[in-house]
Amino acid sequence: MCDDCCCGTTRKHPGVDHAGIRDRLAAAVASTGGRSRDVDCLGVCERSNVVVVRTRHAGSFWIGEVLDEPIVVALDGWIRQGTPLPVPAEVAAHVFDRDASTKAETEPVAELVSLQRRSQR
Ligand code: FES
Repeated sequence: MCDDCCCGTTRKHPGVDHAGIRDRLAAAVASTGGRSRDVDCLGVCERSNVVVVRTRHAGSFWIGEVLDEPIVVALDGWIRQGTPLPVPAEVAAHVFDRDASTKAETEPVAELVSLQRRSQR
């Protein structure tokens, strides 16, 4: 779970127990024999409180907006069950495509560069 420039701060999310969420999910991971770790910014701060769940059977899942009890309970349960597929609807609603998020952020910049080059001719 990310915890760096903003996601874990009360300034951005007053009333969200970031450390408590992190501890609960870490306990879920530990119950499966897995490992968890805190990470710095994952570069998608707009998704706030981002959790990356890596599985052996289905790759990685990027899960955003892990901010309230319903998603924490759903994620906790899914992890404790060994992340079976299909992903439960409550968790799936928070899964996002990390590559698509990066692409969406970089495309306007590429377009801006392209326009600047055209105008310099
Ligand atoms: S601090 Fe969470 S993605 Fe940046």
